[in-house]
Amino acid sequence: SRASIGVTGLAVMGRNLARNLARHGHTVALHNRSPQRTRDLVDQFGSEGDFVPTHTAEEFVRALERPRKLVVMVKAGTPTDAVIDEFAPLLEPGDIIIDAGNAHFADTRRREAALRERGLHFVGTGVSGGEEGALHGPSIMPGGSASSYDSLGPLFEDIAAKVDGAPCCTHIGPDGAGHFVKMVHNGIEYSDMQLIAESFDLLRGALGYEPAQIADVFRTWNTGRLDSYLIEITAEVLAHTDPATGAPFVDVVADEAEQKGTGRWTVQNGLELGVPITGIAEATFARSLSGHTELRRAARGLAGPTRSAARGGVSERFADDVEQALYASKVVAYAQGFNQIQAGSAEYGWNVDLGAVAAVWRGGCIIRAKFLDDIRGAYRAEAGLPTLLASGEFRSAVEDAQDAWRSVVSTAVRLGIPTPGFSTALAYYDALRAERLPAALVQGQRDYFGAHTYRRVDRDGSFHTTWAADPRAEHEA
Ligand code: 6PG
Repeated sequence: SRASIGVTGLAVMGRNLARNLARHGHTVALHNRSPQRTRDLVDQFGSEGDFVPTHTAEEFVRALERPRKLVVMVKAGTPTDAVIDEFAPLLEPGDIIIDAGNAHFADTRRREAALRERGLHFVGTGVSGGEEGALHGPSIMPGGSASSYDSLGPLFEDIAAKVDGAPCCTHIGPDGAGHFVKMVHNGIEYSDMQLIAESFDLLRGALGYEPAQIADVFRTWNTGRLDSYLIEITAEVLAHTDPATGAPFVDVVADEAEQKGTGRWTVQNGLELGVPITGIAEATFARSLSGHTELRRAARGLAGPTRSAARGGVSERFADDVEQALYASKVVAYAQGFNQIQAGSAEYGWNVDLGAVAAVWRGGCIIRAKFLDDIRGAYRAEAGLPTLLASGEFRSAVEDAQDAWRSVVSTAVRLGIPTPGFSTALAYYDALRAERLPAALVQGQRDYFGAHTYRRVDRDGSFHTTWAADPRAEHEA
């Protein structure tokens, strides 16, 4: 046994992780259900490092130094359980199975508990950065036991992206914490993508800019506080022309956004924990709305401003306003996502360090951005920060942006340009800062029809008004 780590499941993500490990001087055992993939990897990339190709589960396990570290890179769900069932009986106490796919954190909790019974470590690990990230340096979010991180951490830190010399990898917390944080990462990713897409739609719809011009606007934004991977690639997508037709690429792509499900999980969990992640929810629903072709066809003729007629009355300053609205909405989206991690951490007893999460998202992952360093700073200054919106720099930046933000949302409403992301972010901001919310009236309604009781602002206790019999009578419930 001479491999320090092994990878089973050699589709592109698994292959690239294995290559990344080997390129960093680690001996990597390889295994795949069908051996052709293993052979292909060695044929094409064997010269990059030290690989130990194996063909059976037994051979794979034998190739690994103890404690064995097996990275499982297969489809989330049943395939993961099948691989665990195949390998667990071959392992010995102290060995570590690492699930580096996008598993649901509840599955990870279940698997971790079951394997812990058998003396094995199970490490559900978030890995972000797509194919390129996996090869050149992803952001890595391992959960599982602290002791498993002692032997696994150095390997992962070695192959992770680096920002100012610091690896974008940290032990997130026990059992499902790593996959939970990766799930919220993806929720934020949905939100960020939606906000950028709305910015594009606004610049086009209100100013009449062509996609290539908007690419330039985004490139400029990318030199400032919005500097991020998603803005950078958006500019490239917008500048791209379809070779077949010569039209802007974005105009030949069907406008139906798909999803593999991590955004949906984030929203479901937000509902379960009662965390208002409205930005992520709107972004997820915006994708499903776009895919409802029949619904959209049925509604196509409904009255409202049309794009070309609506333009006008919008000054060139509008592009700057959109930058501000995007920034402010983005702060809201991240504030919500970090609150969800805070709530998940409390619910499941993970003790997640939010500053450390922001730090490992600074590089390697899809939402990597300069911005995350500011978030890291905010949580370093105050670990229990109730919301990013109330912290020093973010607070003043959002306050400064709010006039532009409001004007962008009202322009969108006037021109009939749908901006669910911008609108919900602003509504969240206004709801949070409100002195009083109409929730008081909702409580009254509930008490009226269902005797659900309410609390008062001036006295402790629960109360019910006998609405039908005598509305002047109030009883303590
Ligand atoms: C990443 C990405 C990656 C992937 C997701 C999103 O962090 O590297 O988030 O996990 O792109 O599967 O895909 P959907 O948009 O299909 O949900």
